[in-house]
Amino acid sequence: MFDRRQLIHAALAAPFACALPAWARAAKPPANAASMGRFIAGLPKAEFHVHLEGTLEADMKFALAKRNGLSLPYADVAAMKRSYVYHDLPSFLKIYYDGMQVLLTEQDFYDLAYGYLRKAASQNVLYAEMFFDPQEHLKRGVAIEAVIGGITRARGDAAKSLGIESQLILCFMRDLSAGSAMEALDAALPYKDKLIGVGLDSDEKGNPPEKFAEHFAKARAAGLHVTMHCDVNQENTLEHIRTALLDLKTERIDHGGNIVQSPELMALARSRGIPFTVCPTFSGQVIEDGRPINALRQMLDAGLKVSVNSDDPAYMGSEYITEVLIRAQKDSTLTPAELVRIERNAFETAWIPAQQRDGYLARLKAYAQTWGVTAG
Ligand code: HPA
Ligand code: ZN
Repeated sequence: MFDRRQLIHAALAAPFACALPAWARAAKPPANAASMGRFIAGLPKAEFHVHLEGTLEADMKFALAKRNGLSLPYADVAAMKRSYVYHDLPSFLKIYYDGMQVLLTEQDFYDLAYGYLRKAASQNVLYAEMFFDPQEHLKRGVAIEAVIGGITRARGDAAKSLGIESQLILCFMRDLSAGSAMEALDAALPYKDKLIGVGLDSDEKGNPPEKFAEHFAKARAAGLHVTMHCDVNQENTLEHIRTALLDLKTERIDHGGNIVQSPELMALARSRGIPFTVCPTFSGQVIEDGRPINALRQMLDAGLKVSVNSDDPAYMGSEYITEVLIRAQKDSTLTPAELVRIERNAFETAWIPAQQRDGYLARLKAYAQTWGVTAG
């Protein structure tokens, strides 16, 4: 039992300890798994490779299905989660597209986006650029106003209530027709002030990036940024990376891990400062001659501008960015300085104004200093 004096001492000491300025706290880099976990949890973060529809958690699916009068072919959340078994991109995409059938109204898209942003803010994500797949929603008769409107309203509320800023990237689904992607772009362009860029996702096999050359050109002419997935271990992956960099002048590559197999492409990407949004949960391993290569480690060692991202967390064990970074730290033996470098890469390559960037970088630097870490 505490006596009264001890209680008063504890009450006085607790707020004082929290209020200590950074310079007065012991600056010790994380030295074990527990302190590494705390360091990663508190690290100011940015996320650029997260598919909003891939953050649709099973419990939200049930809630939205109920609200929309739909029934789901699973007894409960646990049974639904047990069905999330896939072994490659097509088998993953089948589950992912089936899952989004419950998204019908503006409020559904609001709830989806706000749910992700709340989770991200709780993990110290200061800024996120989020993908969405409008073609899949337009196909089901959902109006683009509902999709972009709901997400935009959630972004505004999350910025006000949670302090997390975000922007939106429209993805072309590369396994649908070029015409379908153009329809989605044309439907979305009246809302281009709600978008920051366009991307390219879904099944890459037989769908090279040049299939969308016209779309990227039109989006660029409308003032949007351009990024594209080059998924790992895909057929002709190095050719796709080359086309994306040289012909389509992509500003960023999502995944892109196979670049470690081409010194020439790595030199090109490095010289252009191209950022890579790596998602180690799903695409961390490049397979060469049947053996896995740790893409994140090799990309970092090669001096590429790599960030670490969560991709489709609801389908990947509900591991959001903190859990992904904790796992990546172990798998790729990331040092504290490298973790800071990864977030610095992210803030440096975000599609934001200079003042906003400087603010994030200053927060990251101050955080690193409180732990006695200098970015490598
Ligand atoms: N790759 C391609 N398409 C996708 C992905 C991905 O990682 N996630 C959702 N759609
Ligand atoms: Zn992706």
